[in-house]
Amino acid sequence: MTPLPAAVADAVRALPSPASAWIYDPRAFATRLHRLRQALPGRTILYAMKACANPAVLETAAHLADGIECASGGELRTARAAGATRLAFSGPAKTTADLTEAATAAPPAWVHAESTRDLDGLAAAGHTGPVALRVNRGPALPGTHQMTGAPTPFGLDEQAVPTAVRHALALGLDLAGFHLHAVSNCLDADAYAAHVRTALTWSRHAADHFDLRYVNVGGGLGADPRGHAIDLDALATALTGLDTAGTELVFEPGRYLAAPAGWYTAEILDLKTVRGQAFALVRGGTHHFRLPAAWGYSHPFHLVPGPRTGPAWTDVDLRVCGELCTPRDILNTGQRLDRVAVGDRLVFPDAGAYGWEISHDRFLDHPAPRSIVIG
Ligand SMILES: Cc1ncc(COP(=O)(O)O)c(C=O)c1O
Repeated sequence: MTPLPAAVADAVRALPSPASAWIYDPRAFATRLHRLRQALPGRTILYAMKACANPAVLETAAHLADGIECASGGELRTARAAGATRLAFSGPAKTTADLTEAATAAPPAWVHAESTRDLDGLAAAGHTGPVALRVNRGPALPGTHQMTGAPTPFGLDEQAVPTAVRHALALGLDLAGFHLHAVSNCLDADAYAAHVRTALTWSRHAADHFDLRYVNVGGGLGADPRGHAIDLDALATALTGLDTAGTELVFEPGRYLAAPAGWYTAEILDLKTVRGQAFALVRGGTHHFRLPAAWGYSHPFHLVPGPRTGPAWTDVDLRVCGELCTPRDILNTGQRLDRVAVGDRLVFPDAGAYGWEISHDRFLDHPAPRSIVIG
């Protein structure tokens, strides 16, 4: 488990009871982005804001990344307001309003068209910006979410590409290349490098009727809840000598950049044993931090002693559950603790990506968590 920075522990201690909060440190995001730039010199890095749209994190991304990848008209507006100068737009079910938002941005967004219907919509919206065709090609990559190499709602079939290329050109769209986002949370640097290399080769072949300027290999650089991340040195080595022949090679990571920049903390409201299992019940839960329930894993945590009430329990294997009326509201299925009491705060590190953003906080109308930025 990633150690708890002193500044985060201080912020947790300063919370009023009952504590329930997201804590973000944009410096952790900036450090990851810097590492990525060192590993991928000369490449374009767009931040996929779906991973974490905390305003301070997004503002850092807008200024330090080459642009922001968005998945809705709302994200396009938010990214622009945060200062992004380059926008990209993907998403399987775009509305006319979304496409108009992309077309009227200044400059217009780079749009990743997922179907010929998207192409028609872009032409109807008067889109003058660049367009890339999103394609479901190649084998599935190791990771937690396979977007390609399997039937998914994303992109076009490989066989549909020649027709889509002709259609885009006939509509007068500025066809720049391909968007080949394949996976999420890939921890295998060699497999990821192979994806990049084959994406380039395939794109050159598929672009026989237009000038290929853009190959977007998507996101998917791994960063898991235990703090493991894809080995960027190994990725850099595996990509040594890659010749893009003037084509812009674009990466659009979300998780790798945002995961270490967020911590979720929740205070213990009750401790009890039921059928031999010790439980901590916290103010908050998976409606604030849905990832453990969505993936079905146990997220490790640190304990920061809080305003203790009642006796401390010692040497206990604790299951951590939230305040929801469902047995699936589990943040951790069992972690050994030397000492714990009601009032203590549990802090979940490496939670910044797809933590708050994918959560269903309206369920049961509990109060929202606080949102705190440090650094
Ligand atoms: C089109 C697209 N690009 C980039 C990403 C970011 O992926 P990750 O957070 O795994 O890097 C996603 C995530 O689903 C996506 O759908």
